[in-house]
Amino acid sequence: AGKTKSAYVCNECGASYGQWQGQCGDCGQWNTLSEIVLSAAAGAKQVRTGYAGAAESHITALKEVSDENQTRLHTGLNELDRVLGGGLVEGSVVLIGGDPGIGKSTLLLQAMAAMAASQKALYISGEESLGQVAGRAKRLGLALDHLQALAETSVEKILAHCQQAKPRILVADSIQTLWSEQLTAAPGSVSQVRECAARLVRYAKETGTSVFLVGHVTKEGGIAGPRVLEHMVDAVLYFEGESGSRFRILRAFKNRFGAVNELGVFAMADKGLKEVANPSAIFLSGHSQSAPGSVVLVTREGTRPLLVEVQALVDQSPLGNPRRVTLGLEQNRLAMLLAVMHRHGGIGVSDQDVFVNVVGGIRVQETAADLPTLLAVLSSLKDRPLAEKTVAFGEVGLSGEIRPVPNGEERLKEAAMHGFKRAIVPKANAPKRGQFGDLEVIAVERLMDALQAAF
Ligand code: TYD
Ligand code: MG
Repeated sequence: AGKTKSAYVCNECGASYGQWQGQCGDCGQWNTLSEIVLSAAAGAKQVRTGYAGAAESHITALKEVSDENQTRLHTGLNELDRVLGGGLVEGSVVLIGGDPGIGKSTLLLQAMAAMAASQKALYISGEESLGQVAGRAKRLGLALDHLQALAETSVEKILAHCQQAKPRILVADSIQTLWSEQLTAAPGSVSQVRECAARLVRYAKETGTSVFLVGHVTKEGGIAGPRVLEHMVDAVLYFEGESGSRFRILRAFKNRFGAVNELGVFAMADKGLKEVANPSAIFLSGHSQSAPGSVVLVTREGTRPLLVEVQALVDQSPLGNPRRVTLGLEQNRLAMLLAVMHRHGGIGVSDQDVFVNVVGGIRVQETAADLPTLLAVLSSLKDRPLAEKTVAFGEVGLSGEIRPVPNGEERLKEAAMHGFKRAIVPKANAPKRGQFGDLEVIAVERLMDALQAAF
């Protein structure tokens, strides 16, 4: 037998180290490293599964390769299709991650029931008994005529069943419950989770089967989270929601077949997940009068515009080093914006704590949030609300210029559609007439102009 080697892998983020250490250098979590054994012979010993259709490889001139016309399958849920990039790609492996109880099983059961009408679909449950799965499906009123199910956790047995039954779509719920006979590690450990996922990925690629893997986000030590699989799969979707809220957001974190940051929005009802086709309304905080520190911005997540509210609280700091805290925005970006406001707007907050929150648990990752964020900060500082029914968007540059953002017209349209009356936007994004339907458009070039226009 060859010498065995070990690696230490973080359960939280999947980073790998040659030596054990108390804190993961990548994600900063403590006590999350666990040992996995890499036997020297492992590479050679890899099981040759040898499915039919695993053809010989050969080198080809790329220009002679015909464009793969990806077959996409409608999942029965438009919001899920959107996040996948326009439906489920044949032979792709999609990881759905999220907190326990958020609705991953419900989402996939609904999608599988719809897809089973046209494709052979198999739902593998490692967590719930088939009785529980069937009970839920009946309660949801799903058509179950064609959906097959299997309660099994051994990946070898699962693959044997699949070779017999030849499903076209497969759900493994959850990947953390599966285990391979070839490893001695416990189910849920990094090595088991990776090995089982690798086996299912190989099966998907060799047979053209589409595979959904469910991965719980875990806080427990010793159970690997979905992040350790991100590099192995074609798409990673996270299912999120604020506790106490019935709204759920499905977010593409990685997608080889579509745009990342695409959002799908659902509401959890007593008959399962309902799609929310017009989500702008739910991310506004709901009070109709504008409050100090609150500004509505038009962001663009994936391929559609979305109205969201950014709130700021600026308060006298007791600390020598005041706090800059953000939820849903990047903290360094806030620090940069505050510096620009000081240098080019003449407004300093060096003795104030600044807290910024994006309502609804949304994460805004584009620079269009710059201007609204500063307006919210200033509104809180002055304790004065913006005029009612005002929206804003725009990037703020380091020299205090307001830079345009992509798809300005589409954003203005979304604001007009939801009854907004005024928009403060970069000059290059504004229509020449200063008006967009009923929306008065205030074009600004410098931060100073924007701050004056707003108050
Ligand atoms: P589930 O899909 O089991 O979550 P996960 O697979 O991510 O762990 O969803 C469980 C929660 O959803 C549960 O707390 C109850 C709620 N729920 C509803 O509100 N309505 C429904 O119709 C269903 C099926 C679940
Ligand atoms: Mg579940």
